[in-house]
Amino acid sequence: MYSEINIEKLKSKLKDYSKDYKENFHQIEKYIKGEVDEILELKDLDKLIIPEVSFNKINQKNTKFTKNVKKRGCVIVRDVFDDLTISRLNSDLEKYIIDNNYYKDQKNKSDLDKYFSDLKSSKPQIMGLYWSKAQMKIRHSEQMAKVKKWLNNLWTYKNEEYKVFDPNKELSYADRVRRREPGDNTLGLSPHCDAGSVERWTDYYYQKIYKDIFSDNFMNYDPFDAKYRDRTSEFESPAVAHVFRTFQGWTALTEQGPNDGTLQLIPIAKSMAFILTRALLDDVPKNELCGSKLGKALSVNKKYHSLLLKGLISIPKMKPGDTIWWHPDVVHAVEDKHSGKNYSNVIYVGATPYCKKNLDYTLKQAKKFLKGKSPPDFAAEDYEVNYKGRIKIENLTSLAKKQLAIKNWD
Ligand SMILES: [Fe+2]
Repeated sequence: MYSEINIEKLKSKLKDYSKDYKENFHQIEKYIKGEVDEILELKDLDKLIIPEVSFNKINQKNTKFTKNVKKRGCVIVRDVFDDLTISRLNSDLEKYIIDNNYYKDQKNKSDLDKYFSDLKSSKPQIMGLYWSKAQMKIRHSEQMAKVKKWLNNLWTYKNEEYKVFDPNKELSYADRVRRREPGDNTLGLSPHCDAGSVERWTDYYYQKIYKDIFSDNFMNYDPFDAKYRDRTSEFESPAVAHVFRTFQGWTALTEQGPNDGTLQLIPIAKSMAFILTRALLDDVPKNELCGSKLGKALSVNKKYHSLLLKGLISIPKMKPGDTIWWHPDVVHAVEDKHSGKNYSNVIYVGATPYCKKNLDYTLKQAKKFLKGKSPPDFAAEDYEVNYKGRIKIENLTSLAKKQLAIKNWD
């Protein structure tokens, strides 16, 4: 239990991994500053910061490009779906929401989800819907499977001890939908990371994953080495992911760009090193980890992370059918203000390759799917149980069944 963890003692242990924890932090800070300066320079020149590639070119070998994806920890894959398909699915989703009276339902149940409640802006228009036709079509499509395979293969998934995951087999993680009205100026998400907050310091396997960071070997730290990423355990809380995602991501249903209330990223794959070692410095209260709290998203804030936050950029214009992907350690946010003219809608789809951790979760998720309930990682709002148009087992393709662990992969 977290309440039993002595943060002061833990920090002292982590400090001892280093010959000089302050100097270690300064080295990391220097690297981060270099990355931030580069981002700001590219921004000034109006140049591309987040690497991007067309769907039909993802399998072309390009070492320079993949190196850049690994440095930035994020990538845009464009034209994964054609405009007409997406436009139809967007209308389908709207119909699903309206026909089933989602907004009325939501008013009654919205306090169930407290995951983001500590972030400054806490009420994004993220809907607790998981099993609509639009989501299922996108999540289980052949195109998505191809993109995820490519993404999974960017990781080192085998090591001397064991094979962490199978990059060519996907399980699926049912996630939500963001539909944001034009003109909305209250609903954003402050900078954060998912996949654990205090766990990043306290968990036995996270400590192993980040060992190089704490022990003066930052330059050897490889965020794309999957070793032990499948073994971390999370404190129980609604909306905390219990899967290992090689990338989080979403697919754009509508055109959206900077100022349209869209995603922002700090495109630095090794940002976590800064966050972790920053918490060890002497100005942070003994029993605190720079504002990170149990069961909440990992907070990245001005008080402790101002240097890192300078690197926060809005993603470029996304067209319907484009997808964006970011490493689970990459800090992200949603713009507070939507000044655009149209809805900015996305469907969240991450990459969860086949491994025991993901299979365990997917098996639990499958039970929820069959009943139309909210997946295990999310508040049990269960809006869709009696929704018209919900996708059921008889509507699934063979690929979808495998990805949902309803049918065996082999
Ligand atoms: Fe997030």
